[in-house]
Amino acid sequence: MTPFDADAAKYDEDTFHPFVAEQLIDGLEPQPQLLVDVAAGTGAAAFAALRLGPAAVLAVDLSPAMIEIARRKAADLDPDGRITWQVGSAVPLPLGDGEADAVVCASALHFLGPRALTDWRRVLRPGGRLAFSMVTAQRFKPSGDYPYPRDLRVPGTVAEAAALATDAGFRSATARQVTLDQGDRVRQVFAVFAEA
Ligand SMILES: C[S@@+](CC[C@H](N)C(=O)[O-])C[C@H]1O[C@@H](n2cnc3c(N)ncnc32)[C@H](O)[C@@H]1O
Repeated sequence: MTPFDADAAKYDEDTFHPFVAEQLIDGLEPQPQLLVDVAAGTGAAAFAALRLGPAAVLAVDLSPAMIEIARRKAADLDPDGRITWQVGSAVPLPLGDGEADAVVCASALHFLGPRALTDWRRVLRPGGRLAFSMVTAQRFKPSGDYPYPRDLRVPGTVAEAAALATDAGFRSATARQVTLDQGDRVRQVFAVFAEA
């Protein structure tokens, strides 16, 4: 049982996660052969990515409960079965060097740390596209319920967010703030886009 399994049943009640995932997918090129959704949770980014027309999507998450919910939704949202759901650690990804055309990671890099970025650079083919979100230093409130990597870097500016990708060997990195006003709560993260 991972600490994330306890969140699974109510996870889809939070509209912020699909909102962020949609923003990331908007920044990717259409028709990748293989798109990877890293730490996919209940599949927000993997399902959103289907509109890009990928040949295949690999969605990996540590939490069996999250993946179980994603699989149930897939009956309606992925009738062609283009998404492969895999339970396990997403670092390293179960792929060879240069096998992926696109990597997306929504709302999870703060659990994975910089080694995930190095691994994404490894699995992406030259010119492959990366899109990820990252919590902002201003809003990050670590909880004792979850494990965080010791070398976690939490950016405070768009430049620091883009540098996460550049420092891992990506080029053409850009970052912007993504904000959702939920009435009682304003949510904000950085969205980062880069090329391998
Ligand atoms: C906040 S959720 C984000 C889920 C999804 N990407 C989304 O946008 O809704 C964080 C997810 O990271 C997953 N996770 C944490 N550490 C992981 C690891 N090492 N490998 C794979 N998944 C991991 C958790 O199981 C959880 O589903």
